[in-house]
Amino acid sequence: MRIGLYQFAPEFAKTEKNIRNITEAVKRSDADILVFPEMALSGYLFTSREEVRRAAVRPDGPWINGLREAADKQGCYVVIGLPELSDDGFYNSAVLIGPDGHVGTYRKVHLFYEEKSYFGAGNLGFPVFRIKGLSLGILICFDHMYPEAARCLALQGVEVICHPSNLVLPEYGQLTTRVRSIENRVFWILANRTGSEERGGKRLAYTGCSQITAPDGKILTQAGEKEEELLTVEIDPSSACDKRVTPLDDLFSDRRTDVYSRYLDTDVKCPDL
Ligand code: ACM
Repeated sequence: MRIGLYQFAPEFAKTEKNIRNITEAVKRSDADILVFPEMALSGYLFTSREEVRRAAVRPDGPWINGLREAADKQGCYVVIGLPELSDDGFYNSAVLIGPDGHVGTYRKVHLFYEEKSYFGAGNLGFPVFRIKGLSLGILICFDHMYPEAARCLALQGVEVICHPSNLVLPEYGQLTTRVRSIENRVFWILANRTGSEERGGKRLAYTGCSQITAPDGKILTQAGEKEEELLTVEIDPSSACDKRVTPLDDLFSDRRTDVYSRYLDTDVKCPDL
């Protein structure tokens, strides 16, 4: 099984151009699963709900037709971040598209910063998708800061976590996702974007350095900070089913849920500074 990512700089409000770019990457790729950044269709730095409304698409709308054809020809599944239009508003979502079209959607659970003004918080839970004999889950960017998110997927048996991102905090995402790989013993495809956006007096610089990590935390491939790159690696997904770090330490069967459960409803208390 080959998994991969495409790191690039989506152009703001140039949906058709971004889709063409994404489709060309699918045609060039030898991956079974290829992951693209967060908001890869639209760009990220929205300054009003009106801009979101103009950019938002239905996950199974006609925009997927060319992409589905390319996925069919390559025998490939793709995960792409986009602003989702739904009957009850907008979501920061990622869709899974395969040779037969739209397979499923994940809506970002942990919204970041001004996203909270434009998007609803994800309400589809952490769904698991079974393709090509493999279970995969999707998280989006800031979800990486919450270990619970990856753990919810890992407990459902995913071997691969696909992670469309627009990371802006230096190094955090590259570090945390490597740790999440280790603590959950899963493969992790971090597909970040590059470049910067300057709009409405605001500026964001994206950190690139997309990477794929293995269940033992090894970085299997990593992109540069600024380059557009298409990276793929061969993996054995079954290695994500072994949760042992030594013959006597299984990270999953050794969990102490009897202890953790005492704290699930604890009110957050911060120490006095
Ligand atoms: C982020 O969640 N886009 C930082």
